[in-house]
Amino acid sequence: MSAGNFFVEHPAVHRFMAEVESILQREKETAMRLAELRTPYRLLLEDETWLPEEFRQANPNSGMGGGIASWLLYQSTEKDLSLFSLVVPPGVTTPIHNHLAWGLVGIYAGEQEEEEFEPPEDRHHPGADASLMKLRFRRVLKTGEFYELIPPHNDVHRVKTVSSEPSISLHLLANDTGCILRQKFDPATGEAAPFRSGWSNQQCPESP
Ligand SMILES: [Fe+2]
Repeated sequence: MSAGNFFVEHPAVHRFMAEVESILQREKETAMRLAELRTPYRLLLEDETWLPEEFRQANPNSGMGGGIASWLLYQSTEKDLSLFSLVVPPGVTTPIHNHLAWGLVGIYAGEQEEEEFEPPEDRHHPGADASLMKLRFRRVLKTGEFYELIPPHNDVHRVKTVSSEPSISLHLLANDTGCILRQKFDPATGEAAPFRSGWSNQQCPESP
């Protein structure tokens, strides 16, 4: 059975995390891991029954602003794996941010517009203005659609809820996403700033 903290006690989540653990023990290479995780992840994403109402709510005391909530659903003992729901109210946009870990992100409810940006380290090619954020693409993701995060390749983005109800996305990421120090980026200047999003239902240990 998976070692770690379950914040949702539902057989579907226990089953999923046990399968994730077995895949991670078997596969050591990120692309292979993600390929094998897709099927169990899709099943969890398509199952509307297991996510309790309390983890579908916005959070007025959000660390990200705009009422955006990050509800921790499972975390491994080593804090190298987190499952969480991100709730973004209608019309609200996250800061442009990175994640610093591989993962899977999919839409559990509602719709999100995603804008992916070139990572800062890719902005130093000849002729580029390294101080500006460069948009790679913009797309709308509907309920049930998901994608892989593989840093540094596609690690910088922002999402906005474009449905009339809040969007809920389900994240499986290979770090303590809410508590690690990562970066957010100024959309106008590209300037990076330290960013800790926090968990809506868990305190982060004080930074060293
Ligand atoms: Fe993100």
